[in-house]
Amino acid sequence: MRPLQCVLQAQRRGPLASVSWLLLRTCRARSSVQGTTCPSPERQQENGVRKDFSSRLAAGPTFQHFLRSALDPQEKPDVEDPPPYLTVDELSGRQRKVYLETYGCQMNVNDTEIAWSVLQKSGYLRTRNLQEADVILLVTCSIREKAEQTIWNRLHQLKALKTKRLRSRVPLRIGILGCMAERLKEEILNREKMVDILAGPDAYRDLPRLLAVAESGQQAANVLLSLDETYADVMPVQTSPSATSAFVSIMRGCDNMCSYCIVPFTRGRERSRPVASILEEVRKLSEQVLQLIHERDNICKQIHLPAQSGSSRVLEAMRRGYSREAYVELVHHIRESIPGVSLSSDFIAGFCGETEEDHLQTVSLLREVQYNMGFLFAYSMRQKTRAYHRLKDDVPEEVKLRRLEELITVFREEATKANMASVGCTQLVLVEGHSKRSATDLCGRNDGNLKVIFPNVEMEDVSNSGVRIRAQPGDYVLVKITSTSSQTLKGHVLCKTTLKDSSAYC
Ligand code: 5AD
Repeated sequence: MRPLQCVLQAQRRGPLASVSWLLLRTCRARSSVQGTTCPSPERQQENGVRKDFSSRLAAGPTFQHFLRSALDPQEKPDVEDPPPYLTVDELSGRQRKVYLETYGCQMNVNDTEIAWSVLQKSGYLRTRNLQEADVILLVTCSIREKAEQTIWNRLHQLKALKTKRLRSRVPLRIGILGCMAERLKEEILNREKMVDILAGPDAYRDLPRLLAVAESGQQAANVLLSLDETYADVMPVQTSPSATSAFVSIMRGCDNMCSYCIVPFTRGRERSRPVASILEEVRKLSEQVLQLIHERDNICKQIHLPAQSGSSRVLEAMRRGYSREAYVELVHHIRESIPGVSLSSDFIAGFCGETEEDHLQTVSLLREVQYNMGFLFAYSMRQKTRAYHRLKDDVPEEVKLRRLEELITVFREEATKANMASVGCTQLVLVEGHSKRSATDLCGRNDGNLKVIFPNVEMEDVSNSGVRIRAQPGDYVLVKITSTSSQTLKGHVLCKTTLKDSSAYC
């Protein structure tokens, strides 16, 4: 790829997008002239060029288009809007299967998710089977020499795969993404002729186009670093269905310039993602978590939502970042998302400046939410905290303790009411061990994470042709609840079961 082409292709963002396409059109008009062998006089040639140029210009973007782009600085290149040398069809993934392999750090895991998000939107499919792949993309690392050597070795293995590829299938395309693409640029394309595309860490939006160019048999590269690309609007797609964690990236690049480190050169200038887009991603992840808790029997339906106070004024003094109203709204949302969810909370009685009215607000929140579990504390000033430096610990000790007692009483009344609803129900209980209070009782937790105490007696194992056994820690048992307090449920065990066998009880 010629450097000029590289630059033009990499500039396709914001208002510049249209300008760069215009430049590209101009360049193409010129190069077609330079390449001509027509013997006509120079003048005629110039006229031809002008005519050609005018017709190309007429087909180009209008003045309105520039205005529109300038008015919308957030506008990102539309991958479905093809450059002049590609059709919409060529630009789309056409169900080609992509195999992604990630090397290196957590940023690369995140980059893989971004790259896949872009490709998925463009009509590519994902495969985890190398043999099935039409496109193999390595998300690479340059941090140490050994990391790069691993990629070179992998490329040699993939070369064999590419050569053996059956003619009846679309040719296999191989791409290098990320830090190594950025560091070595054309050197990779020259050294490993089988590499078809190179995309630096700021060029993943361009992947559909790079792959479309590669489809025609050319090598394609975009290794331009950006000052503002944060992929804020690209929601990463979790690449591994068995992943136990998800990363929310808040910034890219690095400006520290540690004397040994390549990162500022491969990942570019430091830039932060807009807060709104981070919040939006976290919100989506939280929604997914709520949905999972609702759907899956092996996840306990309990959420701890430490409120600390029911007074918006105190919450502000505590710098909690939410009001009572926002908290209550969240509680409603969670209860709608997970019917029957058990809620627990932490509260502090007698924080700096807490008035009797504030305290009553906390009492009313306890009544309104009706928590199943609660952890309540009298405020104790801690050195080094902001409250220690800026606020006055002005609620007398006896008032703190009296308020705490009141909170405990209200919490217990409400929890007892909530737990009463379980009496008479049969609940699935995960056995933990012996009860601390009685050697003849066992203790476990129900689906709301509440303690359930029941006598340690023989019972039927319904999943094992009814043999009689005693419950062991880790077993699931069905317990009929007979009585409750604010902290625990009591009952008698019916049988041993499994998560699968037990359908919803009560
Ligand atoms: N005084 C009283 N309670 C406190 N907590 C944290 N700091 C203090 C303090 N200085 C409580 C909060 C928190 C829980 C872990 O401990 O309720 O959620």
